[in-house]
Amino acid sequence: MSVVLLLNGPNLGILGRREPEIYGTDTLADIEAAVAEEVSGRGWEVLSLQHDSEGDLVGAIHRHGPGTVGAIVNPGALMIAGWSLRDALASYAPPWVEVHLSNVWAREQFRHESVIAPLASGVVVGLGAFGYRLAAQALLHLTATAPRSPQRLNGEVGGVRP
Ligand code: DQA
Repeated sequence: MSVVLLLNGPNLGILGRREPEIYGTDTLADIEAAVAEEVSGRGWEVLSLQHDSEGDLVGAIHRHGPGTVGAIVNPGALMIAGWSLRDALASYAPPWVEVHLSNVWAREQFRHESVIAPLASGVVVGLGAFGYRLAAQALLHLTATAPRSPQRLNGEVGGVRP
């Protein structure tokens, strides 16, 4: 059975009652069910892990990452300076998509950069819980098409990342 990893960082275990005017009323269980529904057609299962500490997230990637087909990652505030999470994801080979429920660029300045985003296949921001469904669809798409090599743009790696 193919497994997709759904990884949520600090404070995302209390979704539904956490600042609902920003993050919506869907709970993490609702999100897990939505992602499971999206990927069920491919016969994938979802392994959902939520941790409030960075070390536990790193450990989860080491322990559960190998063999999975892809991942959906909402790092929460670890987007800002979660360097060890970033390094753990650097050694995670399958495609993965970063998700933020809120539009982080419409919020405080300290949320405007993500240390993990440069490694992601793509990023979904500001679409609430629906963003997780889109990320799941993106993983289905990325694993159905032949991977394309990243393009070099002005010395930087850009373009499509498998
Ligand atoms: C978040 C955005 C982060 O800035 C914040 O720290 C979170 C949630 C989001 O999903 O919108 O915990 O990742």
